[in-house]
Order: sequence, then structure tokens, then C-alpha cells
Amino acid sequence: MLTIRKNIAEMPGYVPGEQPQAGTFIKLNTNECPYKPSGRIAAACQAAIERGLNRYPDPMANSFRRAASEIFGVPAEYILAGNGSDDILTILTRTFVGENETLRLPYPSYILYKSLAQLQNAKSEEIPFDEDWRLTPAFRAPTKDLKLVYLPNPNSPSGTRLTRGEVLELADSLPCPLVVDEAYADFADENCVDLVLENKNIIVTRTMSKSYGLAGLRFGFVFAHPDLIQEFVKVKDSYNCDALSIAAATAAIQDREWFEETIGKIRKTRGWMEPALAELGFHTVPSHANFIWCTQKDWDLKEIYLKLKAQNIFVRYMVYDRWKDGGCGLRISVGTDEEVRTLIEKIKEIQKNN
Ligand SMILES: Cc1ncc(COP(=O)(O)O)c(C=O)c1O
Repeated sequence: MLTIRKNIAEMPGYVPGEQPQAGTFIKLNTNECPYKPSGRIAAACQAAIERGLNRYPDPMANSFRRAASEIFGVPAEYILAGNGSDDILTILTRTFVGENETLRLPYPSYILYKSLAQLQNAKSEEIPFDEDWRLTPAFRAPTKDLKLVYLPNPNSPSGTRLTRGEVLELADSLPCPLVVDEAYADFADENCVDLVLENKNIIVTRTMSKSYGLAGLRFGFVFAHPDLIQEFVKVKDSYNCDALSIAAATAAIQDREWFEETIGKIRKTRGWMEPALAELGFHTVPSHANFIWCTQKDWDLKEIYLKLKAQNIFVRYMVYDRWKDGGCGLRISVGTDEEVRTLIEKIKEIQKNN
């Protein structure tokens, strides 16, 4: 008889954002980089092909670890690579959270953390942010069986963040590791990577999907104390990163000129995009990420999302039903200046015709 584990059969499953594959569109729904990645990638992949794809890749992706170590000033033993940061989050959850144990996350935040708990048949505690997207004391409170706490910083969907001081304080008050998910930290003024050197309870995750323009490649990494990295290695797939992605990610992270220029462009666009959306009547929050969270309780945001989609402009319509005012919002990624100008014009047209 076919028996599916009860927790799997009962879980809804994580639903990724829409990924249209054909046609031309403006894609502002999954926080990708609007620019092509570093030009060094093609040659790096070609060299990997010439070295031979008939051989297995380096299971530890050491060339990438060495490159990241130099850039971040953290020893290579503190770094582990993964097949996207979702792979890293899976490894962390499997390492720390067992059946009936508890994983904590803020609400609203990245929905995948909850799905990872469900896969483990573990419990998840979603602790609401306050009205200003600040953590409440409940987030710091030790509870029975609490094994892992996730904090996206900057947070999605809000783009808000805690300071390094606040992260350190939070880690000190928790009875378990704190994972600072820094998928969007390259767009912010500061990050927490070096905190892993002073506090073994702090684990920092990163992705190449957003700030390096490599969502299609699948490459993420984690910074943690070497004692923890050793445990993660037992949990990960033996070859969780393939030879092409290791070569491409290593070349991309070393191209600092591409990186600085691209982050500069995205931050500049973000700088005028947020007031432009606020001028249209959206309620926005100052963002430290590459997206803006837009709410407006008097409007039908789903209708705006659908009307934009009908014109091949994709934004993310999100509903957090236990959040204030029904929890509806549009999370709009920062695109090129031209893409954002078109978006603003189209929203104006929609408003005029309503
Ligand atoms: C907060 C957060 N963490 C992690 C990820 C996953 O990134 P990756 O593409 O590396 O799996 C995302 C993707 O949207 C995200 O928003």
C-alpha cells in the first residue's frame, strides 16, 4: 500500500513565484537582478567543461570557499556552498530541528521556513512583527523545544531590517542558533557576516540569486562556526553544487567591479522608485532590499496585480491573512529605470480608468 507520511500529505507545499518562460515581459515579482550577470561567467564555465564534466565536482566547492573567504575576511572553514540558499536553509533545518521540535520565524516573512518545519514534522512558531516591522519580546522568549530561529535581514516582504547590534542582542537572548538570512543584505548598508566569528549561535546565509544576477544558476552559501559546518556537511547531498555552478559562482563573486556597479544602480533606482510609488498613493516602507512592499487598504490590489499581468508586467501579490488590514500587498522588485518608469505609467493608467 502507498503511504505518504502524514505531515507531507497534510502540508500545502511552498508555492514559488510565477516564472514566465516565453515572450517579453517586465519581471518584478521574484527579486531577481534586472541586469545580466558578470561577463566572466561564460569563460569560467567553458574552462570547467574543458576540465571534463565526466568527473564529479569538488564536493566542498573549495575554489568558491577560498574566493568568498578573501572577499568577506572570514576563514574558508566557516563557509559552505549550496544549490541556492534554499538548499542551505534545508540543510540547516534538517541539522537542528527534529520531529515535534520547534522552529521560529517572524510573520510576515519568508514562507519557506514554515514549509521546512512541516517537512521535518516539526512545529513552527510565527511571531508577528509589530506595526513598524520591529520584533516584539515574544521573539526573544525561550520556549520549550525551540531549536532554530530564522530572521530574514533585510526581511521579505517589508525590506526592513535589524541593526547588527540588535542581531547580537537577539542571538544572546535565544537558547538556540539564530539564522540571519541575508539574501538581500548586499542592498543594505551593513551586514552580519563577521558576527559568526564572535558568536557561535549566529549563522548567516547568502544567495547569488539576487545581488549577483544568478537566480538561474542556483548557488547559495552559509557562514557558521567550523564545528557547525562539519555537521552540515553530513546532512548535505555529497555533490550539492555542480562543476558549472561552482565555476560560475566563483568567477562572479570575484568580479568586484561588476558587483559594485550593479548594486549602485539598483540602490539608485530604489531611491526614486519608493517615493514614486508613494506618490501614486501606495503606503510604502523604506526598503534596505531590492524590492518595495506596497500596501493600500482602500484599493483592490489583486485587481492591480492582474491588470499589470495582463500587460506582461509581473509583480508579486501577497496575502498574509493574519496581518493587519487583511495582509494584502504588492511586493515589487527594483528593475531597471526604464522598467520602473513603465510600471509607474501603467499603474497611473489603471488608476485613471478605474
Ligand atoms: C528571504 C529569502 N531567503 C532565501 C531565498 C532563496 O534564495 P535562493 O534563490 O538562493 O534559493 C529567497 C528567495 O526569494 C528569499 O526571499
